Order: sequence, then C-alpha cells, then structure tokens
Amino acid sequence: MSSNAHVPVLLGPVLQGLKIRPDGCYVDGTFGRGGHSKEILKQLGDAGRLIAIDRDPQAIAAAPASLTEDPRFELIRGEIAQLETFIGERGLAGKVDGLLFDLGVSSPQLDEADRGFSFMRDGPLDMRMDPDSGRSASEWLASVDEQELKHVLRKYGEETSASRIARAIVNAREEAPISRTAQLARIIEDAAPKRGQKKHPATKTFQAIRIAVNGELEQLEAVLEQSVNVMREKARLCVISFHSLEDRIVKRFMRDASREPEQYRGMPNVPEEYQPKLRTVGKAVSATDEEVDANRRARSAHLRIAERT
Ligand SMILES: C[S@@+](CC[C@H](N)C(=O)[O-])C[C@H]1O[C@@H](n2cnc3c(N)ncnc32)[C@H](O)[C@@H]1O
Repeated sequence: MSSNAHVPVLLGPVLQGLKIRPDGCYVDGTFGRGGHSKEILKQLGDAGRLIAIDRDPQAIAAAPASLTEDPRFELIRGEIAQLETFIGERGLAGKVDGLLFDLGVSSPQLDEADRGFSFMRDGPLDMRMDPDSGRSASEWLASVDEQELKHVLRKYGEETSASRIARAIVNAREEAPISRTAQLARIIEDAAPKRGQKKHPATKTFQAIRIAVNGELEQLEAVLEQSVNVMREKARLCVISFHSLEDRIVKRFMRDASREPEQYRGMPNVPEEYQPKLRTVGKAVSATDEEVDANRRARSAHLRIAERT
C-alpha cells in the first residue's frame, strides 16, 4: 500500500451509527485521507452537506478533486476544538445531523519519516499534526521539566518505567539536543529495555509525547462539549478512539451527558438546562477479526455512539 493510503476503520458501524439522512448536514472532524468522508458523501443526496476538518496541511493538500470539487463538500484546515466557530460561521449551529471523530494519527502521518511520529523510521523529532503551530517534540523535550515529563509519560503513555525514561531523557539532552526519532528511541531502549515484550520499548513514550505535543486530550474534551451545542435533535455523535485514555474520556462524557446532575436524579420537573443532552446508543463497537486481519490499525479502535435528545 502506498504511504499516502489510509484504510478507514469501522466504516460500516460508523455509517450505520450516523444514521445518514440524504438531505442532512454532517461533519467529519478528522478528514485524514477522506476514507470516511467519501462514503458519507455517497449516501448524501443533492441537498446533503458534509463539512470536513483536519489540522494537517498534508491531509488538506492530498484531498482528491472528486471531493473538493463536489459542491456538497467543504474541507477546512483547522482544529476540532474550533468546531463551534466553524459551524457558527456557516449558520449551522443546532442544524448538524451527525458528527464523526476518528481520533489520533493517520497512516500517512505514521509512515512518513519526516513527520517524526515513528520510532521505526528515523526522522526529525517533530510529531506535530500541524507543523506550522506549537512546538515540535524536539523543542518540547529540550525544555520540559523532569517531573512534568515523568507525569506525561505515566499519564498519557501509561508507561510503568516513566521515572527511568524521564531521567534518561534529561541526562541525554545535557549531552546533545534530542532531535531525531531514532535517537530518542535508543535513549528509551537503553533506559527501559523491556526484553521479551511484543511492543517496542519506545511505543508508550512516543504515544505520550505525541499526545502532549498536539494537546490531543484537551482537543477531545473541547470538541465533545461543542458537538452537543451544534447538534440538532436526534443527531448522532460517533467517536473512534485508539487508546484507553481517549476512550475513557468519550465514555464518561457520553455517560454524564445522558443523565441529570446528581441533585436532580429521580426528581420530576428537572429544569431544561439540566435535562440529559445525549442518549448513548449501544455499547462500544470494536473491529471484527476480519477487519483486524486486513488492517492492524483497527485492533485498538473503539467506536462510541450517542444521540442528541
Ligand atoms: C485517524 S486519522 C482519520 C482518518 C480518516 N477517517 C480516513 O478514513 O481517512 C486522524 C486525522 O485527524 C486529524 N486530527 C487529529 N486530531 C485533530 C484535531 N484535534 N483537529 C483537527 N484534526 C485532527 C489528523 O491530522 C489526521 O489526519
């Protein structure tokens, strides 16, 4: 498969979960290579509309003409945490029929050494989904406090050797700047070899640094809150997460938005602003064995669906 390819995960369950109406207005907040967008568009009629967002300029540039020239489709370069602004500017607040967020990085981002996401391929240690904003992983590692680094590795990577790895990184940066992915992978491997395990010893540290550099959890929390505000009644929210931290945030958000605050639970006449805004739809959906065999990325995917009340 070419390095520009990305196979959309849980495509069938997403299309079903969105309950697409041909004349509806949909948002694909994580366009990537447009795998989900293309299929959503196929289900829309002439009056349908699809707004897609991605913060990665390469994702925007790679969008095929079959999509960008389609009058029903619009692609915005930006962050999902700006969702309400983008939707408001188009006069669509409260009119969105369905939203999809397929979180994390795309295959092309991981596959291209120059993006600096991969410990398997040597490249500049960047890891930004939008290389034009914020600090690269290398810049972040150059100045982060050791305690903060340990906290990030433990929290975002669930890395059990966080202390040892943080110490090793701080020691190494005193010798020379950490500017390459292979250099960082070697520092981690030397500090916490994890012999006999299937995963590369740098897996969790790379994940944690990527989440920190891109503010991924803050983006997710913001977009969940904002989604509820742009959805019309009975609109659907579909979120695919790829690790337990993200899934926990989605699960809690959907659960909390599906019930009244504690003090109103079981009471008649709950004021409107405290009434549940969402209803969860089924349990988390994972990929079938066939999908995982065909696409390894699908193995850790969890799709959660909720409907606006
Ligand atoms: C897993 S890929 C999506 C793949 C897509 N569904 C497909 O089938 O081609 C995630 C994409 O979302 C983008 N992305 C992740 N977090 C984002 C955020 N907070 N704001 C905007 N785009 C984001 C990434 O740049 C990446 O291109």
